[in-house]
Amino acid sequence: MNIVILAAGMGKRMRSALPKVLHPLAGQPLLSHVIDTARTLSPTRLVVVVGHGAEKVREMVGAPDVQFASQDKQLGTGHAVQQAVPLLDPSVPTLVLYGDVPLTRASSLQRLLDAAGTDKYGVLTVTVDNPTGYGRIVRNANGNVTKIVEQKDATPDQLEIAEINTGIIVTPTRQLEAWLASLKNNNAQGEFYLTDVVERAIEAGVDVVTAQPDAEWETLGVNSKVQLAELERVHQRNVAYALLEAGVTLADPARIDVRGTLTCGADVSIDVNCVFEGNVTIADNVSIGPNCVIRDASIGAGTRIDAYTHIEGATAGAKVVLGPYARLRPGAKLSDEAHVGNFVEVKNATLGHGSKANHLTYIGDADIGARVNIGAGTITCNYDGANKFRTVIEDDVFVGSDTQLVAPVRVGRGVTIAAGTTVWKDVGEGELVLNEKTQISRNDYVRPTKKKS
Ligand code: UD1
Ligand code: CA
Repeated sequence: MNIVILAAGMGKRMRSALPKVLHPLAGQPLLSHVIDTARTLSPTRLVVVVGHGAEKVREMVGAPDVQFASQDKQLGTGHAVQQAVPLLDPSVPTLVLYGDVPLTRASSLQRLLDAAGTDKYGVLTVTVDNPTGYGRIVRNANGNVTKIVEQKDATPDQLEIAEINTGIIVTPTRQLEAWLASLKNNNAQGEFYLTDVVERAIEAGVDVVTAQPDAEWETLGVNSKVQLAELERVHQRNVAYALLEAGVTLADPARIDVRGTLTCGADVSIDVNCVFEGNVTIADNVSIGPNCVIRDASIGAGTRIDAYTHIEGATAGAKVVLGPYARLRPGAKLSDEAHVGNFVEVKNATLGHGSKANHLTYIGDADIGARVNIGAGTITCNYDGANKFRTVIEDDVFVGSDTQLVAPVRVGRGVTIAAGTTVWKDVGEGELVLNEKTQISRNDYVRPTKKKS
């Protein structure tokens, strides 16, 4: 089958310089959602009709399986499909989707495709409480569709019809070119309506069938920021309920946002206001506290992530303890039973089995062995203003509080670093390292006092 996605419209009511179909829903442009759904149906040709903001839209899509047709002037949905026809395979049906209708499920589209087969004209319709603004499905006494009338062209009787055109259709392709070429724009909006093709199909003796989606929200489009926000909530609720169905405990399904793919094992619990982005995998028995942001990460079984922890591009093993207020940046790799506590930042560094950095620390570009204890206020000085260097700390090292490690530097196995040490030379196995300092106490000191004006 061919799939055509209409995405030329300008989206004036978004009040934005960004083309409408590029506005994000769940972190992805609206159009990406439609393209992803289209791909699950394995089309032989996939064509996006671009017009308003065409360059930006082409750039965002940039995939080898997608072709583009330009519609320089938006003269109507029929005119838009006409631009794609030369790119279609005439021997298979064509499904038309909308770049601003992001949540249609493949199962609903499949139902429409099954109803239409290879030789019928299919329209996805839905019966709604308030049909205002939509095209109405007009049927004869036998219940057969005879035409679709737009709101602005409808008679008072037709306005009473509650079955509406979602806009999504499937049509045999061979006659489509001729049908589209014969469209007239003598209607209330002066546009070439795709909806008028139904009448051409009937004249040509092609059966018109309809199918309905599982849920009404699948057919909702985005014309404004209000509708965008509403569909975001619909999508997030769907994701949250799917997680609950899969056995994940959510403190509140209305307070979780998944902008990407979240995969959870058994007995995972997630507190309120967590945001998951990109690809996140969470193993069994993980508990996540409130207000965590986790992006492109893998978390091992039995790990506990406390409140306000940020994780990006990092992996944590099993039974790790993170946070509250921990930050794992790209390339952080924590082995099993590691602890990273409050106000500790780890970047491009490995932390071995059972190693702990519990307070106020920066670990960047470092390889840290097992059972290392890193005291509060430890800093790896990894950057000289031009280049970055690594710090290596071997197993069983004790790093005293307020230590600076000036990279490149290696600290041997079992070393003890005294509190307040600046380590700028390698330290051999088992040694104690400290900087000589003097503590002076004086009893002749008088604190300054404020002068009276
Ligand atoms: C269309 C249908 C209407 C249906 C409604 C469902 C027609 C004539 N009407 O109306 O029956 O109930 O969708 O939401 O088809 N577009 C282009 N080029 C154009 C015009 C539109 O690419 O020249 C794209 C838009 O970007 C949008 C889609 O087609 O993605 C629908 O266009 P829109 O103007 O919103 O159609 P409606 O008037 O809502
Ligand atoms: Ca619309």
